[in-house]
Amino acid sequence: MSERTAALRAAHASGLLVGAEPVLVLCSGGRDSTCLLDVAVTLCGRGRVSVLHVNYGLRGAESDGDEAHCRALAERLGVELEVVRAPPGPSGNVQAWARALRYGEAERRRRAAGALVAVGHTASDQAETILYRLAASPSRRALLGMQARGDARVRPLLEVTREQTAEHCRARGLTWREDSGNESDRYARTRVRRALLPALRAVHPAAEANVIAAAATLRAEAHVLDELVEQVLDGHEDVEVETLAALPAALARLVLVRLADAAAGHPAGGVGRRLAELLALGARGGPAALDVGDGVRAEIARGRLSMRTLHYTAAPEMPEPHSDPAIGEILVSASTLQARVREMAQEISHDYRTLPTSPGRSLLLVGVLKGAVFFLSDLMRHIDVPVEVDFMAVASYGSATDSSGVVRILKDLDVVIEGRDVLIVEDIVDSGLTLQYLLRNLGSRNPKSLEVCALLTKPARRKVELKARYVGFEIADRFAIGYGLDHAERYRNLPYVAALAT
Ligand code: IMP
Ligand code: MG
Repeated sequence: MSERTAALRAAHASGLLVGAEPVLVLCSGGRDSTCLLDVAVTLCGRGRVSVLHVNYGLRGAESDGDEAHCRALAERLGVELEVVRAPPGPSGNVQAWARALRYGEAERRRRAAGALVAVGHTASDQAETILYRLAASPSRRALLGMQARGDARVRPLLEVTREQTAEHCRARGLTWREDSGNESDRYARTRVRRALLPALRAVHPAAEANVIAAAATLRAEAHVLDELVEQVLDGHEDVEVETLAALPAALARLVLVRLADAAAGHPAGGVGRRLAELLALGARGGPAALDVGDGVRAEIARGRLSMRTLHYTAAPEMPEPHSDPAIGEILVSASTLQARVREMAQEISHDYRTLPTSPGRSLLLVGVLKGAVFFLSDLMRHIDVPVEVDFMAVASYGSATDSSGVVRILKDLDVVIEGRDVLIVEDIVDSGLTLQYLLRNLGSRNPKSLEVCALLTKPARRKVELKARYVGFEIADRFAIGYGLDHAERYRNLPYVAALAT
């Protein structure tokens, strides 16, 4: 066998590559993944190992150089290589886009071939990840770090430092590619590597190792907390609101996170922070629903709280072709919009099924001009209970991008809504001030019921607590255009929702 480097010993000791399934190594051509590929071939034999390289084409000749390097490496090690060439990327978060693409491709192969997907994350990456998350995310889970075996991939080098992967490559006479992106301070991760870690090492020479050790301790303690949460749930996938309210808030938040994760099928972010809102909704009695983020909706019925997913993928979409530079990344694609609108129409049809069908007594949709017209007309086409429609136009005093909450009616309803079931259809809930005004105004006319159906919501911008019974999508705090949403009256006709490029 070849040199027993520290990297090889650690990968062997990890026990992650001992099975019989094929191993797919994701290789960028950098030192860590070059090391991983060599180690995998040594431990598993070349027959079991293949390589996937994704060429994002982001760095021109350098990207092609990386690809050529991987080709030469695969040939030297005698393993099969597959190269995926990415279509042109988005203007927004390029790293997230590249990651989603890489893991999407790997996941497809994992499913098809039953392959183990191996990635080259090292102990150095682990320390950087933990420090970055510590700064970027106010959650306990952020501090746990990456798992050696988790989320459909294995990380055989997670105990190996970056120096040791370089050592391994040198010992085996393997070269690697340096990513010029690592030299610039453009990415947060690179700044952690180049500025934060050295500063911490100056505070204490074992800083990096201590960060990793602390995460290991937290991971062990996480099992204890998981156990407590399971005791609260007692075999159920929902929880009594009263039980939740009586728990220490820290534990109640963990219960919410656990339910949301199970519903989403992956860690759902930011759910714990919605505890107070959910308890407030629960305290009102009656059924309620709240989108808690990451495509998960919390539902309260008969005093119990459960979570389910909204059936759409928030995965980054490939940009649709357009030539206008004002149109930024796609927030919700046309096909995803249509699928969700149909689903919302089904929910509405289901909920209003028992209403009288005579004219003037059936469900009344109130569209808010102008933005909601596009959503409303698509929505209405899929509602299969008797339904009527009317419109209101309101203007809110404020700047172009911020409403003030002082609202003026430009066009009122044509019909009287006293005693009727009314559903307000809105394009987007931003601060919530417009909707709050509408709910008060229409509510004072004594409808039999008054609910809200909003295509989009930006929870980060909310200024008032609002209960929207139907919500299509949560979007990030970006100014959105398309599918009814305008910027200075333009772009309403886009079939998708995009961010206004800044
Ligand atoms: P709110 O009163 O702040 O909730 O504002 C709601 C209204 O502001 C919506 O009906 C839209 O007309 C407009 N609005 C809020 N956010 C956006 C956006 O991102 N793009 C376009 N219009 C928006
Ligand atoms: Mg509007």
